[in-house]
Amino acid sequence: MKNSILSLLQATTLDVQTVAKGWVRHKRSSQNVSFVTLNDGSTIKTLQIVADADKFAEELKRIHTGACLEVHGKLIASQGAGQSVELVAEKIIVLGEANPEHYPLQPKEHTLEFLRENAHLRARGNTFSAVFRVRHALGYAIHKYFNDNGFYYWHSPIITASDAEGAGEMFQVTALDLKNLPKDDKGNIDFKQDFFGRPTNLTVSGQLEGELGAMGLGKVYTFGPTFRAENSNTTRHLAEFWMIEPEMAFYDIHDNMDLVEDFLRYLIKYALDNCADDLEFLDQRFLKEESKKKKEEQAEMSLVEKLRFVVENQFERLTYTEAINILLNSNYHKKKKFLFEVKWGIDLQSEHERYLVEKHFKKPVILTNYPKAIKAFYMKQNENEEAGKETVRAMDVLFPGIGEIVGGSQREEVYERLKARTDEMHITEELSWYLDTRRFGTAPHSGFGLGFERLVLFVTGMGNIRDVIPFPRTPLNASF
Ligand code: 4AD
Ligand code: MG
Repeated sequence: MKNSILSLLQATTLDVQTVAKGWVRHKRSSQNVSFVTLNDGSTIKTLQIVADADKFAEELKRIHTGACLEVHGKLIASQGAGQSVELVAEKIIVLGEANPEHYPLQPKEHTLEFLRENAHLRARGNTFSAVFRVRHALGYAIHKYFNDNGFYYWHSPIITASDAEGAGEMFQVTALDLKNLPKDDKGNIDFKQDFFGRPTNLTVSGQLEGELGAMGLGKVYTFGPTFRAENSNTTRHLAEFWMIEPEMAFYDIHDNMDLVEDFLRYLIKYALDNCADDLEFLDQRFLKEESKKKKEEQAEMSLVEKLRFVVENQFERLTYTEAINILLNSNYHKKKKFLFEVKWGIDLQSEHERYLVEKHFKKPVILTNYPKAIKAFYMKQNENEEAGKETVRAMDVLFPGIGEIVGGSQREEVYERLKARTDEMHITEELSWYLDTRRFGTAPHSGFGLGFERLVLFVTGMGNIRDVIPFPRTPLNASF
């Protein structure tokens, strides 16, 4: 009774009694017999059920796209083309009907927007089930990679009192009655009366807590949900996304780059090796989507070609300053094709990142040594630099079609230098627990954060980050 359709399709012993359960994709009837294709999520493929039209006349009237069936019968070598085995029905139980007048999913293509609004259908169609199987495989590969390489899974908290990125884009967490807020003597909200006795928020990153783990366990990683209240309505931003954050004692920025490159190539190879059927489907879908674009905007490689390319080629490594010079000398810049100004000190815009990756290098790029002014307080400061041109040992990985997929750095391990930065930002007191790592047995260390959905977006070739997470949260949208 536990047969998955995947295992039935791979069965080597035929002509045996078996049971299949799943949802109807399609029904096609001829005079004496009906063919019903069944899918149960175990594979993108379907199992064909052959049902005698007379014997199952009553059942067949109730069977439409979307219905859920339990079919008992004999698995035989298929007579028709397109599949190796089929199930000749001897008993059909309709577990759940799907009235065709009301069932919104029909055997035709639906827009992704439509499927986003009909949450119960997302897991049913080919596109989303393929995406979510790939998402699962990548999640598993992440744990496997770290486990096989001596990292410990370290659970950073979801509720925290700190702002790891210092950007102030946080969702507050409170148990106070918003209609009746307690006030202190000065008339401010009295958070001492709140659940934790202080203001708290949902985490924007598990890194700071990750660093505490690395300063004893050596190599750790977090893999959990992170939350950002930034009002970015783009195809690459979510308000709730999953992030993978390894943190390693004794790693400098070069070790960090070696790790991130090996890690990303491993994950993509894992998907190629383990999700071939789904990637083949997504590859076709990608080609179809690309063909709708103008010729000059179409991708040069198919999805699978692009993934293989990343696995087989080394990433380009250069500094921020070198990148700015490339942008300044580009034809794009000379022809004023960039919307945002290019000069040393800017935070690179997505158009700049994509130029470097897609037009100039045509491969993934790791940029390092960004201006100190545009990066987080915890990054290792480079020494002996020209005033106004100070840089930090940041490391961003840029991917074609995505832009930034990873942000990381070597960390500032020198207490005085780190404290000077937290003083500037008035967060020394709040982060005293973090600064303690630099007071007692400090060590050079590094880490990075990989946006899980951006990775899934890249591997599946989907166009919008909302379509690679089961329940996307974006500005003005938290249904289901
Ligand atoms: O560059 P970010 O902000 O870096 C950090 O949070 C560091 N604490 C990471 C570290 O060093 N441990 O975010 C890291 C990655 C980005 O490169 C991007 O892939 C993803 O997280 N990301 C988002 N993904 C989806 N929606 C958003 N709003 C995202 N913001 C960041
Ligand atoms: Mg970043």
